[in-house]
Amino acid sequence: MNQQARALEKATASAAEPHFPLLADALPQIVWTASPDGEIEYFNKRWFDYTGISFEDAQGSGWQSALHPDDLQIYLDRWNKSLRTGENCEVEFRLRSASDASYHWQLSRAQAWEKNGQVTKWFGTITDVDLIVCRDLAERKQEEVFRTGQSQVLEMIARSEPLESVLARLMLLIEAQAEEMLCSILLLSDDGGHVRHGAAPSLPADYVKAVDGAPIGPKNGSCGTAMYLAKPVIVTDIFTNPLWEDYRGLAKASGLRACWSTPIFSGSGKVLGSFAMYYRQPQRPSGSEAKLTEVATHIAGIAIEHQRAEDELRRTQGQLAHVARVTTMGELTASIAHEVNQPLGAIVGNADICLDWLAGEHPDLWKIAEALEDISRDGHRASEVIRRIRGLAKKQLPQKITLDINEVAREAQELVNHEANMRGVTLLTEFAAELPAVSGDRVQLQQVLLNLLMNGMDAMSTTERQQRRLTIGTTRKGGQALVAVCDCGVGIEQAQADQVFKAFHSTKSGGMGMGLAISRSIIEAHGGRLWLEANSGPGVTFKFTLPSSTTEAHS
Ligand SMILES: Nc1ncnc2c1ncn2[C@@H]1O[C@H](COP(=O)(O)OP(=O)(O)OP(=O)(O)O)[C@@H](O)[C@H]1O
Ligand SMILES: [Mg+2]
Repeated sequence: MNQQARALEKATASAAEPHFPLLADALPQIVWTASPDGEIEYFNKRWFDYTGISFEDAQGSGWQSALHPDDLQIYLDRWNKSLRTGENCEVEFRLRSASDASYHWQLSRAQAWEKNGQVTKWFGTITDVDLIVCRDLAERKQEEVFRTGQSQVLEMIARSEPLESVLARLMLLIEAQAEEMLCSILLLSDDGGHVRHGAAPSLPADYVKAVDGAPIGPKNGSCGTAMYLAKPVIVTDIFTNPLWEDYRGLAKASGLRACWSTPIFSGSGKVLGSFAMYYRQPQRPSGSEAKLTEVATHIAGIAIEHQRAEDELRRTQGQLAHVARVTTMGELTASIAHEVNQPLGAIVGNADICLDWLAGEHPDLWKIAEALEDISRDGHRASEVIRRIRGLAKKQLPQKITLDINEVAREAQELVNHEANMRGVTLLTEFAAELPAVSGDRVQLQQVLLNLLMNGMDAMSTTERQQRRLTIGTTRKGGQALVAVCDCGVGIEQAQADQVFKAFHSTKSGGMGMGLAISRSIIEAHGGRLWLEANSGPGVTFKFTLPSSTTEAHS
C-alpha cells in the first residue's frame, strides 16, 4: 500500500469520526462522499454555502440542478463511466453560485475507495478554477484575434494594398497585444544611407516627420543604429543612452523614453528597414515582446519585399510598353511625317504667297496679315504634333490627369489618319458629346487606341477596299466612359477571344503579340476593362471602359 492509499484509508476511517466534518468544513473546496452506486452521502459546509442547496434537496439527482445545463451531460457521462469502471473521474464544469446566481468554472475530482477489489465509497472534491479557466479563455481569444489580425494583414499584402496602409495595420495589431507600447516601422532608403518613413500610426506626427530622412550610422538612435549594424538595438532609457545624443531633444519633446529596434531583413538577408517598440517610460524587455517582434519583422519583411517586386514589375512593364509604343510609332513614320509635313507645306505655301504680294507695287496688307495668321496657326499645329510625338516616344512615368477621352481619341485618330489613307481605310468617328471626364495617363491611353486602330487596319488588309471602315466611337456607360474601335476585318473566332490578350500571341509576321496584352494591363491599371465583341457583320469591336474621375475620387 502506498503512502497516498494509507492516507486515504485513514481518512475513510475518520469519516465516521466527528472530526472529519470539521476538517472537511475547514477546506476552501467542496468535499463530498458517495456510496458505490453514486448516491450522495455527505457534503461539507462549502457545498451549501456555495450552491444554497440543502443536503435533502441534493439527494437523488437534486445536486444536478447546480450544474450548468450545457455541462451536465458531459459530467454525467464521465461520472457514470467511473461508477461502472471504478476509474478516477476528473471533469471541469460550471456550478451555479447562490450568492450571485452566476456560473463559475470548477474542477471536479472523484476517487474510489476500494476494499478487496470492491468500491466501498467515493470521495470527491470540487475546486473553483474560474479565474484560471477565464484567464485561459481570454488568452486563447486574444491569440485568435492576433492570428486573425495577421491573416488580414497578409491578405492586404496579397491584394497589393499600399505599403503604408499594410504596415500601419500591422503596427496597430502589434500595439493591441501589449499595453502602453507604441510601434513604428522605418524603411531603409534606396541609397542604403537613410531612414524613410514606413508606418507609425500612434507616434506623434512631428516626431515621425523629423525622423524621416535621417541618416543611419553607429550612433543614430535605436533604428538608425539597428539598420547600420544589422542587429537589434535595445535602448531602455533614451535620456541616458549615448546612441540618442543627437535625437534626445526630439524624443523628449515627443514624450518618448525607451526604444527597442530590430532590423527587418529580406529573404536574402539584406536590411530592408527596422521595427521599433517605444515606451513613454524607461523600459526593459520582459521576454514577452520577442514573439511580437518576430511576427512584426517577419510580416513587414514580406510586405516590403512584395512592394519592391511590384515596383520592379511595374518598371519592367513600363519599359516594355515603351518599346511597344516606339515600335508602333516606327510603323507609323509615314503617317507621322505626313502630320508634320502638312502644316509645314501650308506654311511654305503661305510664305511664298506673302513674298509675291510684298514684291507687288501696292501690297494688300490685310491679306498679308491673314496669310501670316495662317502661317502662325500652322506653325503651332506642327509644333503641337511634334510635342505629342515626343510625348509618345519619351520614356516617362505614368501621370494621371483629368482627361477628355474624345480629345485623346481624336489625337490618336490624327496620328493614323494618313496611314489609313494609304491603306485605303475610311476612318469614321462617333463621339458622344457628354462624356464623364476620366482620370488617366494621356500617352498610355493613346498607346491603347493606336494599337487597336493599327490592329483594325491590319485585320482589313484582305477586305475589299470599299468595305474597309474603321470606326472609333465613344459613349457613356453608367458613370463610365466607353470607347469602341470597330473594324470590318477578318474577325476573331470565339475560341481565340481570350488568346489574343495573351502576351506574344500574334498571327502577324512582324508582330510582337504584345499590343493587346499591354493595352489590357494599361486599361486595368486605370480601373477599367478591355474586351472584344464579335460584330453581327464582319469584323470585331474592341471596347474599353474608364471610370469617371469623380467616381474614382469617391471610391
Ligand atoms: N481587330 C482584330 N481583328 C482580328 N484579329 C485581331 C484584331 N486585333 C488583334 N487581332 C489578333 O490578335 C493578335 C494579337 O494582337 P496584338 O495587338 O496583341 O499583337 P500584334 O498586333 O500581333 O503585335 P503588336 O505587339 O505589334 O501589337 C494579332 O496578331 C491578331 O491575330
Ligand atoms: Mg497590335
